[in-house]
Amino acid sequence: MMMKNKQILLAARPVGFPKAADFQLVETEAPDLKPGQFLVRSIYLSVDPYMRGRMNDRKSYADPVGLGEVMIGGVVGEVVESQHERFGVGSLVVGMFGWQEYAVSDGTEVRLVKTGSAPSSTALGVLGMPGLTAYCGFLDICKPQAGETVVVSGAAGAVGSVVGQIAKLKGCTVVGVAGSDAKVAHLTDDLGFDAALNYKSTDDYYGKLKELCPAGIDAYFDNVGGPVTDAVFGHLNRFARVAICGQISQYNATQLEQGPRLFWKLIEKQVKVEGFLVFQYANQFREAMQQLTAWVEGGQLKYRERITAGLENAPRAFFEMLQGENIGKQLVKIS
Ligand SMILES: NC(=O)c1ccc[n+]([C@@H]2O[C@H](COP(=O)([O-])OP(=O)(O)OC[C@H]3O[C@@H](n4cnc5c(N)ncnc54)[C@H](OP(=O)(O)O)[C@@H]3O)[C@@H](O)[C@H]2O)c1
Repeated sequence: MMMKNKQILLAARPVGFPKAADFQLVETEAPDLKPGQFLVRSIYLSVDPYMRGRMNDRKSYADPVGLGEVMIGGVVGEVVESQHERFGVGSLVVGMFGWQEYAVSDGTEVRLVKTGSAPSSTALGVLGMPGLTAYCGFLDICKPQAGETVVVSGAAGAVGSVVGQIAKLKGCTVVGVAGSDAKVAHLTDDLGFDAALNYKSTDDYYGKLKELCPAGIDAYFDNVGGPVTDAVFGHLNRFARVAICGQISQYNATQLEQGPRLFWKLIEKQVKVEGFLVFQYANQFREAMQQLTAWVEGGQLKYRERITAGLENAPRAFFEMLQGENIGKQLVKIS
């Protein structure tokens, strides 16, 4: 039986902030299976900041999405037809199946969803790529020690919220930076952060950080870059460690921002700054996932999800995530 497949394609390369016309919703026939393949029905789609970079016509760590191609994206789905030995009908899988209702796969880079007692959606968040990013990048680069002060930017998002909670589990004082009072309250009241600042209602980031981090900053996990990061640099202690995870404040910029030139502070304080990509830690994923799952099941690691219904609303969910509407992981429920 021919099955209809709704897909969202990249229709145009955005200039600045993306818009609805950069995407196109189409309906096609779901392809037939060949031996060694299986058909996945999408349940949850993840929308992530990295997708903005992949919409540009510039190769970075990965190829851009081609015009007219299905938008890339991580998906949790169910195998509904199979000619594959490992992924039988009924298996719950996670893979890069893209912004579409159905996808055919040969199993490359697909894994079975193993989220313990947590819902399958967490395989795209706290128990998926964002959780692994937080765990591996933070522990390897920031090397948190009990009693140290850690600052996290983008603190209420999928990655940042996990970083801050891991820092608390390691005995650190944790200060988050996020974009609303509701996020500040969530970080301090629900997630156990010691303090947080709303960068959208604070003009003096440097002064506010001085107040919230009286002992200076020993480790900084940066998701955003820009003026927040400039202000953090001013408070770094001797031998501080900085993990550059993301620079979301720059992703929609049409011109590179010129910031204060603060690298001399890194010399003065002998700071180590290191960028990373989560995939470089692939050989640690199994161990990281075991620990993250144990923390989630034990209630030490909390998570939130913001779920938007309908594939057709994926572009809107993506825009809203870029604008900071999400607390925790932004997902789209497809079926
Ligand atoms: N290196 C890696 O391998 C890797 C892997 C995954 C993610 N990342 C990066 O990690 C960061 C967080 O990703 P995520 O998936 O957890 O997304 P997220 O934090 O759940 O969502 C993005 C958040 O960015 C914030 N934001 C948007 N524009 C901003 C601006 N101009 N200044 C400051 N904050 C802004 C918004 O929160 P506010 O309300 O606080 O503004 C928004 O909620 C991103 O930069 C992403 O690219 C890197």
